[in-house]
Amino acid sequence: MNDHLAKKVKKIFLEKFHKEPLIVFSPGRINMIGEHVDYNDGYVMPAAVDKGIYFALAENNTDTSTFYAADLNEEFSIPLNAIAKDRGWKNYVLGIIDQLLKKKYLLRGFDCVFSGDVPVGAGMSSSAAVECGLGHGLDLLFHLKIDRVFMAKLGQKAEHEFPGVNCGIMDQFANMMGKKDHVFLLDCRTLEYSYLKLPLGDYSILLINSKVHHSLASSEYNVRRQQCEEGIHYLKKNLPNILSLRDVNENDLKKYGEGMNGEVYERCLFVVQEIKRTVDAATCLEQNNLNRFGKLMYASHEGLAGLYKVSCEEIDFLVDLAKLNPNITGSRIMGGGFGGCTINIIHRDQADAFANSAIEAYKRKFRIEAEAYKIRLENGTSQVNA
Ligand code: GLA
Repeated sequence: MNDHLAKKVKKIFLEKFHKEPLIVFSPGRINMIGEHVDYNDGYVMPAAVDKGIYFALAENNTDTSTFYAADLNEEFSIPLNAIAKDRGWKNYVLGIIDQLLKKKYLLRGFDCVFSGDVPVGAGMSSSAAVECGLGHGLDLLFHLKIDRVFMAKLGQKAEHEFPGVNCGIMDQFANMMGKKDHVFLLDCRTLEYSYLKLPLGDYSILLINSKVHHSLASSEYNVRRQQCEEGIHYLKKNLPNILSLRDVNENDLKKYGEGMNGEVYERCLFVVQEIKRTVDAATCLEQNNLNRFGKLMYASHEGLAGLYKVSCEEIDFLVDLAKLNPNITGSRIMGGGFGGCTINIIHRDQADAFANSAIEAYKRKFRIEAEAYKIRLENGTSQVNA
């Protein structure tokens, strides 16, 4: 929690709208392992973090709502009966309102100010933080009593329909269901989940934001999703009962995937392996085996880069630096890919030294100023005092 930001949105709100707002903190997320498997009914291991977006909200007794994105100094107003797809950040706020209205939740005009410290386009899911944070804020404002998992589903649908990214459920679920100091293992097929403690001991989680965000990210994301579906379609010829890649093991894939398009095969192979890795990683946590957990993270990165092809030169450089450092047990690209952050498990006494040297080497090579974040695991979206 960033007290300063909670106070900031409240102050701006009071100055602009002269009314006491309610304040909501909506977290970004990390994912330890289980990347690009949520939309394949697999397992993921995310957590909500202490970086996120702060919303100030109050009713305004009209039929129109006003949004002020303080970090961009941009504002717009829209009547609630005219909600339609727009562009850029507006789609994240409009998308969730659209979903709430479609489900017949009763909204009245309101004003909203928001500001955040979760980096945008960094694989930490600032988009889910906007969708679910605003959704939950409106839930509180209008006493809608929306179940948290249902809100996560509405956020996911909003992302599909307005920004047009065909995402899985992981980000919105982590945003709504995160628990302080815990990660969780989520079965994306049944939405069953269990909270787990990371046996970090003297180790800590360090993110390095490459500050690159390749513009292909959302279109290529949708392509990956289609390729997985193509793979299923092909495999169904011999495995008629499978519903998703969750139902396929590596042997089946090798046996029945032979004639598949080469790229599609590689995408499927990654998914099948990553689902297994995530289950293995959960076992490592039970056994306090951080070393093996780290190895699985490296293997995940290799798959994401080599088979799933969602990494990039800049991120590979950062993971390679981590591999050379004996104080790091695991490192990989995190989130949708094509840039964003690496997630590293590092001895906490060495985190600053590594962050500094990696940032320096990265700057020499790419002329980009990377950033490092030591993050803490937080509760899901909730009302806060300011
Ligand atoms: C994005 C999506 C998620 C998930 C990840 C990759 O963050 O929103 O649903 O697919 O990419 O694991």
